[in-house]
Amino acid sequence: MIENELGPLLALLDRTTRVAVLTGSGISAESGIPTFRGEQGLWRQFRAEELATPQAFERDARLVWEWYDWRRGIIGRAEPNEGHRTISAWQEVFPSFSLITQNIDGLHERAGSRDPVELHGNIWKLRCLREGTVTESREVPLRSLPPLCPGCGAMLRPHVVWFGEALEGRVLEEAFRRSASCDVMFVVGTSAIVHPAASLPLAAADSGAKIVEVNPDPTPLSRTADLVFRGKAGQILPLIQQKLIQKLRP
Ligand code: OAD
Repeated sequence: MIENELGPLLALLDRTTRVAVLTGSGISAESGIPTFRGEQGLWRQFRAEELATPQAFERDARLVWEWYDWRRGIIGRAEPNEGHRTISAWQEVFPSFSLITQNIDGLHERAGSRDPVELHGNIWKLRCLREGTVTESREVPLRSLPPLCPGCGAMLRPHVVWFGEALEGRVLEEAFRRSASCDVMFVVGTSAIVHPAASLPLAAADSGAKIVEVNPDPTPLSRTADLVFRGKAGQILPLIQQKLIQKLRP
């Protein structure tokens, strides 16, 4: 079945210079990082409103930080997979390439991707509640919970977007700019239900881009997508890459 989609995809990519990729937690699933809504998903085990809202942080900053510290541990032990590596290789394959991710795990950059738009922030970054300054710390586990700003001693929070918070304006603008200026957008490993991220493929399609979904399961985007690859990112993306290379160097 996947073979049936490969021909049309290669034909499409032949006419394409500008490629964008939007990823969600599914791309990191094969690295051992839990997704949010699957059977083993984080939101099946934890209540978002107790751990991922500004109110939760006000109520119990230590509890929220313990949860992020646990996630930092999982992510810190994880390695980028073939899916991340293929996306990183595409920077050199397509004349214009851009990456937008909902993930906070930083695995795209570790795989070599330059300049991803991180819509929901980054778990390795901490933000001072008083000054708003953002610092990076790879310490796992964190020595002090909650951690304090080295500059002013105020409490630090994870530099991530919580439920009920707006995405950073310039980050969102850049994501829409990239979406509206591509010919093909790959949408990989996202349930495509959390907005505004889920609006990006729609914006791309409105601007004339073709949408290619890579996901083992159907999503609300599947109906709109021009091509759908039902499978794991770590298998499908390298397969696409292999066919692209074969085509370039038969
Ligand atoms: P979800 O957990 O909602 O969706 C993960 C998607 O990945 C599902 O559609 C799975 O079918 C798919 N998937 C699972 N394994 C895969 C694999 N190996 N290859 C490809 N796809 C696979 O995660 P997101 O869509 O990322 O936001 O969730 C979006 C946002 O909701 C997150 O950024 C987070 C969450 O609440 C915030 O925390 C602000």
